[in-house]
Amino acid sequence: MLRLQEVTSKDSEATGALVIFGISGDLARKMTFHALYRLERRGRLTCPVVGVAMDDWTDEHLRAQARAAIEGLEPRFSKRVFTRLAQRLRYVRGNFEDQRTYGALKQALSGVQRPLFYLEIPPSLFGTVVKQLAAAGLTDGARVMVEKPFGYDIQSARKLNGQLREVLDEDQILRIDHFLGKEPVMDLQFLRFANDILEPVWNREHISAVQISMAEDFGVEDRGSFYDAVGALRDVVQNHLLQVMALAAMEPPAGADADDLRNKKTDVFRAVPELEPEHSVRGQYEGYRKVAGVGRRSTTETYVALRLAVDNWRWAGVPFFIRAGKAMAERVTEVRVVFRHPPHLAFLGRSARAEANQVILRIDPQPGLCLVLNSKGSEGRSSQPVHLDLSFAAELGRPAEPYERLIDDALRGDHRLFTREDTVEETWRIVQPLLDSPGPVLPYRQGTWGPSEAAGLVRGHPAWHEPWLPSPAGGQSTSRRATRRKP
Ligand code: BG6
Repeated sequence: MLRLQEVTSKDSEATGALVIFGISGDLARKMTFHALYRLERRGRLTCPVVGVAMDDWTDEHLRAQARAAIEGLEPRFSKRVFTRLAQRLRYVRGNFEDQRTYGALKQALSGVQRPLFYLEIPPSLFGTVVKQLAAAGLTDGARVMVEKPFGYDIQSARKLNGQLREVLDEDQILRIDHFLGKEPVMDLQFLRFANDILEPVWNREHISAVQISMAEDFGVEDRGSFYDAVGALRDVVQNHLLQVMALAAMEPPAGADADDLRNKKTDVFRAVPELEPEHSVRGQYEGYRKVAGVGRRSTTETYVALRLAVDNWRWAGVPFFIRAGKAMAERVTEVRVVFRHPPHLAFLGRSARAEANQVILRIDPQPGLCLVLNSKGSEGRSSQPVHLDLSFAAELGRPAEPYERLIDDALRGDHRLFTREDTVEETWRIVQPLLDSPGPVLPYRQGTWGPSEAAGLVRGHPAWHEPWLPSPAGGQSTSRRATRRKP
C-alpha cells in the first residue's frame, strides 16, 4: 500500500490531502466518487483522499464502494484510471465527536500541508467537527468545504457561520451550492457582459419581467423525512434560484477575484426587499402526504412561486418571478427575460401587435439559449415569433459536472463558485417572512405546472410561460437555426 506522502502532489501550493467526512453516505455514492474519478481521468486530482466515517470499513472496503458507485454512473469506466484513484483512497474510522478520531486522522495526515476537509455530514455536526479539527491542530493552513443546507432560517445560518468562524477565517471556508458549478449558471456572467447586444438593453428600460422556473417531473421519492422538514423554499429557492437571480441581476464584477464577483451578487441581495408573503403561492402535490417519512397532515410546500423586486436603478419596477416545484409536468430549469412590447406598428394593421422579445437560458436539461424575435408571419401582414436557439453542448462540447468543477476549484483554493457568509445571510433575510408566515398550502395534481393560483401572482405582467423544452429526441434542435416552434 502506498503511504500518503508518496501520492501527495509535488505542487507546493496545492491541497496536500482531501479529507471527506461522511464518505460512507449517500452523497458520496451518488456524486463524490464519480466526481473524483472524473478529476483523476483529467489529471486534476493530485493528492491523497482520506475518507472518515463511523462505519466499520477498511481501505479495501472504501475502494470497493467507490468502484461500485463509479461503475454504476460512468459509461466509459476505465480500470487504469480507477486503479490510480484507488491508490489515493484511505479510510479512517471514527465517531465525529470522539477526539480519538482526530488523533487517528492527524496520524494519517502527518507531513501533509494544506488539507481540504470536506464535510458531507449533517450541518448540526459542522461545529463539532471544526472544533475538534482545531483542537487537534489540523486547521492551520487548511480549508473546510461544507455541504448544504446552510442553515434552516436566518438565525440558524448566523449560528452556523458563528460556529465555523470561531475557529476558521472566512477565506478558509467554502460553502457549496452545486448550482454555481453548472456551466449555464456560470455562463450568465459571460452572456450578459461579453455581449454588446445584450448588456445595453438588460435593464428596466427594456425588460418588463424576469421569470426563473425550476420544474422537476419527480416527487420527493425516498427523501420524505428530509424534505418534509425543509420544503421547496429552503430546498432550492433560498439557495440555488436566488443565486441564479443574483447572476441575472448583478452589475459587472470589477475584477477577477472571488470577492469581486461575490460583492456584486451580495449587492443585488441587499437591494431586494424582504419577501411579502402575499406575493407568494405555496402548493403541495396530491399524494405527497403518503410518501414515507412525510407527516400525514404535513403543510410543507412541494411548490412555491414568488415575486421579488430589486430596488436599484437597473431594476426598479421590474418583477422577478421565481417558481419551483416537484412532481410537475416536465423537468426543466430556465431563466426567461421578457422584454417590453414593441410599440404599435402601423404596417401591421390596427389590431395586430408584435410579441415581446425574450431571452431564455435553459439550465437543465440540455443547457441552451433561445432568443425569441418577431418576423413576418407566413400569411398576410401578421408578425410571428420565431426562435433562434442553440445548444451549448453542440457548440462548446460537454462541460465538467458541477461537483467535479467545485471539488477541483476547492482543491486549488478558488472561492469564486462558493457562497460567502454575508451573502448567505442576505438570502435568508429575503425569504424569512415567508418562513415566519407561510400561509396556506394549495393542492395540485401531479404532472401539472402547479396550483392555478400562481397565475394571480403575475397578473398585470407577462403570464408564466411554459418552459422551453429540449427537443424530444434528446439532441437539441440545431444551433443558430430559426424555428417556428413556440417555447
Ligand atoms: C438539491 C435539492 O439541492 O437540488 C433537490 O435538494 C433537487 O431536491 C436538486 O432535486 C436539483 O439539482 P439538479 O442539479 O439535479 O437539478
